[in-house]
Amino acid sequence: MPSSLLAAIPPYVFYQLDARRAAARAAGRTLVDVGIGSPDGPIPEVVVAAMQRAAADRGLSHYPAFRVDPVLGAAAAGYLFERFGVSVDPAGEVMALAGSKEGIAELVLSHVNPGEVVLVPAVHYPVYARAPQLAGARAVPVPLDADGLMQLDQVAAADLARARLLIVNYPSNPTTATASLAELGRLLAFAEAHDLVLVSDLAYSELGFDGYAAPSVLQLPGATRRAVELHTCSKSFNMAGVRIAVMAGSRAVLDTLDAYRSNIGYGVSTLAQHAGATAFAHAAAIVPPIVAEYRRRRDALVAALRRGGWAVEAPRASMYLWLPVPAGFDDWGWVDALIAGPGVVVTPGLAFGEAGRGRYRVSLVQPPDRLELAAAGLVATAAAPAVGAAG
Ligand SMILES: Cc1ncc(COP(=O)(O)O)c(C=O)c1O
Repeated sequence: MPSSLLAAIPPYVFYQLDARRAAARAAGRTLVDVGIGSPDGPIPEVVVAAMQRAAADRGLSHYPAFRVDPVLGAAAAGYLFERFGVSVDPAGEVMALAGSKEGIAELVLSHVNPGEVVLVPAVHYPVYARAPQLAGARAVPVPLDADGLMQLDQVAAADLARARLLIVNYPSNPTTATASLAELGRLLAFAEAHDLVLVSDLAYSELGFDGYAAPSVLQLPGATRRAVELHTCSKSFNMAGVRIAVMAGSRAVLDTLDAYRSNIGYGVSTLAQHAGATAFAHAAAIVPPIVAEYRRRRDALVAALRRGGWAVEAPRASMYLWLPVPAGFDDWGWVDALIAGPGVVVTPGLAFGEAGRGRYRVSLVQPPDRLELAAAGLVATAAAPAVGAAG
């Protein structure tokens, strides 16, 4: 029997999508899967070599350091300095995580009491809302404006009084919205004013196009008093299967997270930490070709949709397109029509909260020719609404 907190959580939308995908494959369909945001590129060779070296090292016989291996701490701090001009103490202001998803969940569980509130973007990566539920707390969705920025003045006073954390994510999955440093300053000032911990999930920091480089909240003066930022190797370095990320920023927040984590585990695999250290140390060489490939894909997909008569905007960051569900379809009706028709798998916006209804996400996780195929399938399906689709 699951705990009552777990039982109260609705089924993960990605499971429902998985079931549809599996059923189509079992029926012999070949699919173009642009649903999941899982990188298809190879792990950089320099990282593979570092993992091979680490695997052969006797150091792996021992438990890792609780907080961070000094090699990863130094490399992550070096990356933050090179990329953002941010200085952090590698020992006290950096923590290794087995991916940012787990890190965010543990951060919530270590900081939030039952009945309290976590403020999250109304359209959000699912763990932002699920972790508070597992803590017996509530995620309160903050409405987004047309640019995907959080309308904090719309948070009810009663919710604000109970709020402990403010989670932000720019560049955003799934909306692709970006925030300037001034906007991050506004979010930090709000956190200051209401005594919240600011949690910035910078999963897509490196995936910027046409000269766009996402800022870090840690660039703001005094940010390390109450802000932490997550940097994962999953997306920028094609390392989602390695499970390595870091959280950097407020020493006090990391101390609390450390206290929680030390009751549960033994730190993060030394092998993964060495892999992450190598990725961060070589970021300047590794990232540009990966970004160039995503840019090629973005351009191919956007051009193909425009050729089909769709007015789509090219996102300037992330690995997604966030599109409106065409007239004549409801959310699942559109997803099902694409699987049944051209065999294209997309993610319904509902996966990212109720405010995602009416939209869907396409991931740039296929080469350009496959994305063009997907675009042709989308355009053809919208032009001929399926029998039985909601009006
Ligand atoms: C915004 C955001 N945060 C975190 C994650 C998870 O990253 P990790 O692999 O580091 O757990 C994702 C993955 O899609 C994401 O989109």
